[in-house]
Amino acid sequence: MSVDVATSGERDTFVTQRSRALEGEVSIGGAKNSVLKLMAACLLAEGQHVLANVPDISDVSLMCELLEAMGVTVTRADHRLVIDVPAELNTEAPYHLVERMRASIVVLGPLLGRFGTARVALPGGDDFGPRPIDMHLRALESLGATFSTAHGDISGTAELLKGTEVVLEYPSVGATENVLMAAVRAKGRTRIVNPAREPEISDLVEFLNQMGARVGWSGDRLAVDGVERLAPAPSGNGYRVIPDRIEAATFLAAVGMCGGSVFLRHAVAEHMTMLIRKLSEMGMHIVIDEAGLRATVNQRLASADISTLPFPGLATDYKPFLVSMLTTAAGVGIVTENIFTGRFRYIDELRRMGADIRTEGHHAVVRGVERLSGAPVRAHDIRAGAALVVAGLAATGETEVTGAAHIDRGYEDLAGKLAGIGAPISRR
Ligand code: UD1
Repeated sequence: MSVDVATSGERDTFVTQRSRALEGEVSIGGAKNSVLKLMAACLLAEGQHVLANVPDISDVSLMCELLEAMGVTVTRADHRLVIDVPAELNTEAPYHLVERMRASIVVLGPLLGRFGTARVALPGGDDFGPRPIDMHLRALESLGATFSTAHGDISGTAELLKGTEVVLEYPSVGATENVLMAAVRAKGRTRIVNPAREPEISDLVEFLNQMGARVGWSGDRLAVDGVERLAPAPSGNGYRVIPDRIEAATFLAAVGMCGGSVFLRHAVAEHMTMLIRKLSEMGMHIVIDEAGLRATVNQRLASADISTLPFPGLATDYKPFLVSMLTTAAGVGIVTENIFTGRFRYIDELRRMGADIRTEGHHAVVRGVERLSGAPVRAHDIRAGAALVVAGLAATGETEVTGAAHIDRGYEDLAGKLAGIGAPISRR
């Protein structure tokens, strides 16, 4: 399977003009941050796994490559993945793949859980700042794994994983996933204290349980009773990945900045409670129904203060969209980033478009301006890149967002979906 990340210069630019009010309907795809982990979870059991509602994004292609490098066969068509996992696997995740996608680190837990051995290249930093994995390792060590590092790889072994109380000092999403996928095969009961509680974690719990694991929430802790064997989830039409709340936030931001009324089919309001509250406070009218939600904006949004927190707080992944919206909202908003240290870099790009933003440590003060002005800007990561595309729709003249390959990592046809609700956008 080849990876269709555009190489530099090859359709690597989104081009936008100022948009009229957006109208119509957009369909929200499967969640990137869920499907990558479900794919890793398949390593826990020999046999054929089927995933449905899989977004056509390049991070999924990379995860396919990683699984294939381990000896797994993957077939991908019509938003479905058929993943055939053999009895024996190569338990190594090579640097050239891990380096391109940090989320690869989640193969560590399932490999240790099933084979008692794993060797994974250490991920480097990225545009969010340093991304350590110390909590992943400490949590796995408390189950009995031991680790050593050499030549840029981390090697883990575990003769026997034994259930115990695992305390996460911070509810890290990746550490929760890794320890969960090891604990499902450990002997006895594991209690994970202070786990991440993002909807993508609940999706992983549900998928593991369908594979025969025994995982349950006990208040806001996770209780895992280890089992001897797991099997592919009963397939039917395949296990359906939950909708992507961050993709939904992207379209909410577009409506927020351009005005109009758009129905987000499949968006799940209960995955986005805090975001919906915040956007309502800013003046967006949101109506929720079973099939999705409708967002309507008839006037300039009002500013609000924003502070990112682990779920159920406002997700750090929403922040670039909220900052884009604040750049043209009426008033001043103070934005506080509590999850990642380096996540303000795209603000320099927004300034090039006329935004009035001051940063101080992990705070940004955004003073709304009447209009942004189109400019050439660069995407440095998935969500910040998409937030620049959205900002371009509210800017006079033309905006060129280069670095589109970053955006393709997490968005299926962003330009097509925005054009479908009336946005003047193209790709070249
Ligand atoms: C996941 C998401 C990412 C999202 C983030 C927070 C995927 C593929 N990525 O990333 O989009 O922004 O959750 O919701 O699902 N930390 C440590 N040591 C560790 C692990 C984490 O210090 O061992 C720190 C990180 O540097 C960061 C914070 O904890 O400051 C949160 O990280 P974490 O929740 O682990 O995020 P990821 O799983 O990497």
